[in-house]
Amino acid sequence: MKKVVILTGAGISAESGIKTFRDSDGLWENHSIEEVATPEGWRRDPELVLKFYNDRRAQLFEVVPNDAHTALQRLEAQYDVQIITQNVDNLHERAGSSKILHLHGLLTQARSSVDESLVYELGNKEIKLGDKCEKGSQLRPHIVWFGEQVPNIEIAARMVEKADILMVIGTSLAVYPAAGLLHYAPRKCRKFLIDPNASKMDHLEGVTIINEKAGTGVPKLVEQLLNEN
Ligand code: OAD
Repeated sequence: MKKVVILTGAGISAESGIKTFRDSDGLWENHSIEEVATPEGWRRDPELVLKFYNDRRAQLFEVVPNDAHTALQRLEAQYDVQIITQNVDNLHERAGSSKILHLHGLLTQARSSVDESLVYELGNKEIKLGDKCEKGSQLRPHIVWFGEQVPNIEIAARMVEKADILMVIGTSLAVYPAAGLLHYAPRKCRKFLIDPNASKMDHLEGVTIINEKAGTGVPKLVEQLLNEN
């Protein structure tokens, strides 16, 4: 089976009703990254940080996967599909995709603030001040913040190195190291980028640019790939 590696960003979940980060009215326009997405912000005001992620977790349970998420699941009928997502939502899981690597963590998990290997399933529960891990430290969202290492990046790079086809969907490619993953694709790998603002990326060499929203562009490309096989 040919291997399809898919790098997704906030844009794939936009049509489900989850805001992106850098589009107008995106999350970073209305919140300060320093306050809610850095270790310093967490030390300064953990209650504010918990509220930001508790609200986003609550919203996650009001939305559903869209046609792009479900199309990627269908691709598994004929391809070995590996999703690498920068998203902290669980919409790929809920669409039924089987191999998903989260680069930036997951809203439905909490972790210890002293030992990052202690991760706990939250489901839709909130994290409150005073909720502790088994070592007695405050629980924090299981999210990779700015200034923190991305523990799964090496695993992701090894996956991209094996791709026959690489699809990049709904990401501004503004955040490293995730954005650098494209460079690990082998020479013979076919590369596609789906994003309604993809024209700003036409400097990317050897990439077929599909200037469409994920909800329409992804199902079309998936049908094309299924018909080829
Ligand atoms: P961005 O908000 O930076 O980029 C979203 C991309 O989605 C843009 O290129 C949009 O053009 C595109 N987009 C908007 N609507 C779309 C649609 N309907 N279909 C397809 N694409 C659409 O989000 P990311 O690139 O995911 O990190 O951001 C990367 C990281 O920065 C995030 O994981 C997050 C953020 O800070 C952390 O929180 C650690």
